Amino acid sequence: MKVSSVLHCQRCAPRQRFLLTAFLLTYWHLSTSSQVSIELVPPQVVEGEDVLFLVHKLPENIMSLCWFKGRTFINCGILMYAKNTRVSVMGPMYSSRETLYGNGSLLIHNVSQKDIGFYTLRALNSHGDTVSTSTFLHVNLFLWNCGRLVASAQPSIETLPPIVPDGKDVFVQVRNLPENILGFAWFRGMTQVRKQLIARYIIDEKASFSFGPAYSGRERLYTDGSLLIKNVTQKDAGLYTLGILGTDMKSEEGHVEIQVESLVLKCCNSLTPAKFIVESVPRYAVEGGSILLVVHNLPEGLRSFSWYYSIYTVPAFKIVDYHVIRNITTWSDAYRGRGMVYASGSLLLQDVTEEDARMYTLEILNINNKVERGHVQFYVNKMVTEPFIRITNTTVNARRSVTFSCVSPDIGLSFRWFFNNHNLQPTDRIKLSPSKCGVRIDDVRIEDAGEYECLVMNRAGIGVGSHPVRWP
Ligand SMILES: *[C@@H]1O[C@H](CO)[C@@H](O)[C@H](O)[C@H]1NC(C)=O
Ligand SMILES: *[C@@H]1O[C@H](CO)[C@@H](O)[C@H](O)[C@H]1NC(C)=O
Ligand SMILES: *[C@@H]1O[C@H](CO)[C@@H](O)[C@H](O)[C@H]1NC(C)=O
Ligand SMILES: *[C@@H]1O[C@H](CO)[C@@H](O)[C@H](O)[C@H]1NC(C)=O
Ligand SMILES: *[C@@H]1O[C@H](CO)[C@@H](O)[C@H](O)[C@H]1NC(C)=O
Repeated sequence: MKVSSVLHCQRCAPRQRFLLTAFLLTYWHLSTSSQVSIELVPPQVVEGEDVLFLVHKLPENIMSLCWFKGRTFINCGILMYAKNTRVSVMGPMYSSRETLYGNGSLLIHNVSQKDIGFYTLRALNSHGDTVSTSTFLHVNLFLWNCGRLVASAQPSIETLPPIVPDGKDVFVQVRNLPENILGFAWFRGMTQVRKQLIARYIIDEKASFSFGPAYSGRERLYTDGSLLIKNVTQKDAGLYTLGILGTDMKSEEGHVEIQVESLVLKCCNSLTPAKFIVESVPRYAVEGGSILLVVHNLPEGLRSFSWYYSIYTVPAFKIVDYHVIRNITTWSDAYRGRGMVYASGSLLLQDVTEEDARMYTLEILNINNKVERGHVQFYVNKMVTEPFIRITNTTVNARRSVTFSCVSPDIGLSFRWFFNNHNLQPTDRIKLSPSKCGVRIDDVRIEDAGEYECLVMNRAGIGVGSHPVRWP
């Protein structure tokens, strides 16, 4: 998967290749955690700061090591260090801002946009074996400091409507996108593979959308991560994956299931039975309340079915098994006494908390041992706290910028901004952060003076406005 993805992109423009590879690189890092790895300190780097490429798990018997810019050994040496002689040698890419430590870590002072790129460490041990590892350095012009900064929170993804009638449009709304990101991509299915790519958005100098092999011409992507699919059919039903790459090179992903209600099914004469559908009643739970995950069109002739609290149907995530033929129910310890399961496939969960608001999977096994899966998600609504506006002024090269941040402790919100009681319109100078919690005005002008106000809204459409602030 990874190799072919890189090969595939060899025909792309250099800059595209670079960013697509960055998308993939993070996965290599996840999968090679037991070997030598690089951590960026600080993880989010802003122009003018120093950055340390901290090396972890470097083998002990290293004879020499070498840092270079890029990912292929032939070009761009920065520094080389031989352990026995304790001598550092500067390469053609050395700019006198770099320091190499004996433990392999590299410090770069006062970074700028020119330093953006891959950095590779290659080390040689006493047996003549080499280890090498790369990381991508992104240098931010500035950082958003509102919205989701907690790494633990997940992007929240929801389809509107929850069950789409055949031929209608579905809007996949994303909330809680992290703010400092390089880009995101939507994929068909459960994994981020190139051939399943629908579209991606890269936030660089000219923020740009591009489409992948799974793009059908009916999808539209928005800068906040949301996706619109027009005129859906049964073929569009199933899982979708959103991959997000932060400017700290950390990636995360979220999933959503698009459920399509077949019109053919309704008149009962279809030869190919439509996939079963799962609906959450209600869709927005109150904390402490109950949720019924209702199954429609469960096929006949089932052997058994199981519920899981994840998209991954592994035993660790199991809630309950129901053996249809023998009428035997087996609960996992964590869920025993918390709910009920019905022969119709439906599952009742009582006393739900925010923790329970996640993706659930129903896996069914028919008498021919054929497995089918369906997914459903529900949300827990909380009160909306009044947000406040934080103002940050910066001056770079005599150009003044101001950032307004709408600060709220709540998650899963959508944001709107008002300037002098009108909707604030983004322009070349006035930019909104991905989730819209931040507004940045560059090259401040007199006409920017006035009253700023933000409004936060939860999923149920309950909104609360901030106190308006006068600026300057
Ligand atoms: C390597 O040395 C640098 C500079 O002394 C230090 O900051 C860093 O923590 C060291 N790395 C490890 C992994 O100990
Ligand atoms: C940092 O680098 C910039 C150019 O990228 C330069 O203008 C500035 O003087 C440098 N600052 C320091 C403290 O060296
Ligand atoms: C929706 O798709 C169907 C077949 O895929 C097509 O016949 C129909 O014209 C489309 N409708 C619209 C409004 O595009
Ligand atoms: C299944 O077993 C439960 C008791 O465990 C019983 O109440 C129920 O009627 C049985 N259902 C069927 C369809 O036999
Ligand atoms: C930001 O700049 C404006 C105009 O220069 C000034 O009036 C205001 O006090 C500054 N605000 C902060 C928080 O520094």
